[in-house]
Amino acid sequence: MEGTIIQTADPRAEYRALHEEIDVAIRSVLEGPSYVLGDAVRRFEEEFAGHVGVSHGIGVNNGTDAIHLALRALEIGTGDEVITVSHTAVATVAAICMAGATPVLADVDPVSRTLDPDWVKGLITARTKAVLPVHLYGHPADMAGLTKICADHGLSMVEDCAQAHGARFHGQRVGRFGVLSTFSFYPTKNLGAIGDAGLVATNDASLAERLRMLRQYGWERPQFSEIQGWNSRMDPLQAAILSVKLKHLDARTERRRVIAETYNIRLRDLPLVLPAEGSGCFHVYHLYVVELPDEATRNALRDHLARSGINAGIHYPYAVHQQPAYQPWIRTSAMVVTERLASTVLSLPLYPDLTDHEIHRVCDAVRTFYGSLE
Ligand SMILES: Cc1ncc(COP(=O)(O)O)c(C=O)c1O
Repeated sequence: MEGTIIQTADPRAEYRALHEEIDVAIRSVLEGPSYVLGDAVRRFEEEFAGHVGVSHGIGVNNGTDAIHLALRALEIGTGDEVITVSHTAVATVAAICMAGATPVLADVDPVSRTLDPDWVKGLITARTKAVLPVHLYGHPADMAGLTKICADHGLSMVEDCAQAHGARFHGQRVGRFGVLSTFSFYPTKNLGAIGDAGLVATNDASLAERLRMLRQYGWERPQFSEIQGWNSRMDPLQAAILSVKLKHLDARTERRRVIAETYNIRLRDLPLVLPAEGSGCFHVYHLYVVELPDEATRNALRDHLARSGINAGIHYPYAVHQQPAYQPWIRTSAMVVTERLASTVLSLPLYPDLTDHEIHRVCDAVRTFYGSLE
């Protein structure tokens, strides 16, 4: 086995690259007046909303809470249905259940691997209140098709942008299409904290106000709960670190795209399905996900890479509807694309700090699996 282990993602590498700025930011919180909310959170909320291109950002404790509170802000709850995908992090669906609403799961488009608008049309009932697309792996969902369906049927759109900071659909950043959009800053995300953090973005001032109340006991002013609320405040240490990292996000996204292009070029003649970038889409390659013909080949390639010191990931080995906890909600069965992806996808290492040598080590290892090192 050559050299060090190459991980699928490595948030520590970003810390090493930016540690001087990050250490100053941490100290400023430690020595500052607020250990809860305060200026660091306010500043990051404004900066991140500006990056998305909306007027308000509400920092919360994690990306799951962001979805949960977004649905609460829209007063979506018991008896209401929310259409989303089964091919996602379980958090998307868990958050719908946290709001008391019913998740209705749809299949994904085989190329973009995101919510298929044709499925959505077939799942709308009198109880449907919202459509929740996930910009999975960093590729935008079909915002044109889904926006039209929501407008035609009077449904709210809430975008799950947890994996797609800075992704664009026909020039517009994701997070600007839905009435509310949600982000996760889990450490391995394209913009990642050193713990949990999340945010809801919106152009709607009254929803923003409501979200600020929901994240803090429903307080309209200190110690006065106007509505029922939770404790889901963004940690100022995380906010200060995220402000530092946000300045580097666009450059780091470009590096992700360069790495993805190298994989595209070096692997394109192999019998693998490589990720595609839809026309008018700007993919931010949170993950570089290839598809193998079947589960046995996928697992064999993963094991071959592991023997070469390369940790490839599987996102996700079980669709949400295949997991016991979510059986009670499942209304649909044959999600052919989703089920195929669960058994055939493999995420190759991709993070901006990978060296060119490491990228070629990954490509060489994939090629040797096929006995074709060029
Ligand atoms: C698509 C998606 N939605 C939601 C979440 C939830 O975010 P968090 O882990 O910050 O709660 C994640 C991250 O795990 C995610 O990948």
